[in-house]
Amino acid sequence: MTKNVLAIVGSLRKGSVNRATARAAAALAGDDVSVTILPIADVPLYNGDVEDRGLPESVVALHEAVAAADGVIFFTPEYNGSLPAVAKNVIDWLSRPPNALENTPTAAVATTPGGRAGAGVLGHFEQILDHMLGDYIRFESHGIGKYFDKLDEDGELADEDARAELGAWLARFVASLDS
Ligand SMILES: Cc1cc2nc3c(=O)[nH]c(=O)nc-3n(C[C@H](O)[C@H](O)[C@H](O)COP(=O)(O)O)c2cc1C
Repeated sequence: MTKNVLAIVGSLRKGSVNRATARAAAALAGDDVSVTILPIADVPLYNGDVEDRGLPESVVALHEAVAAADGVIFFTPEYNGSLPAVAKNVIDWLSRPPNALENTPTAAVATTPGGRAGAGVLGHFEQILDHMLGDYIRFESHGIGKYFDKLDEDGELADEDARAELGAWLARFVASLDS
């Protein structure tokens, strides 16, 4: 049966490299895997007053998309050694009832210009999920560093080794969804 993997990109930029990595993952996925990138530009900043008035449509769509997925991958940049507000905001909304992340395996992939391949953001991502979910289904994160050398002229992830590593990581993530 086809596994549905939801991709959430922690950058709103049209030319986002992390969105390019999500596209590469979708293209590298096996026949039995569908990777869908969820649009999140309309998700407002978390505000308890807005929540009290009723969840905005975009937040309902976010919860529903996560609940319907077999797995979720955050494709996120690193900002100042941590998560960009865009990614953290999505996590904050998802942490509120009905907390669709609770039973959905979740992992992160960071694509960064630096050589540390997002060690800061990926570490903080895991800390947040640990704090939020306690016994959530953990899966190793994946970092792609020095991306300037790995993109083609259209900004797509073209480096053969990076694509092979991403494809292998994704295959392991999808295989873990069965266990
Ligand atoms: C506010 C800000 C902080 C940043 N901090 C880091 C950082 O800590 N580590 C890093 O590798 N890159 C950092 N960068 C560079 C981003 O990784 C780079 O802009 C990347 O292309 C953003 O991802 P995107 O292409 O998906 O939008 C930062 C960029 C911005 C705008």
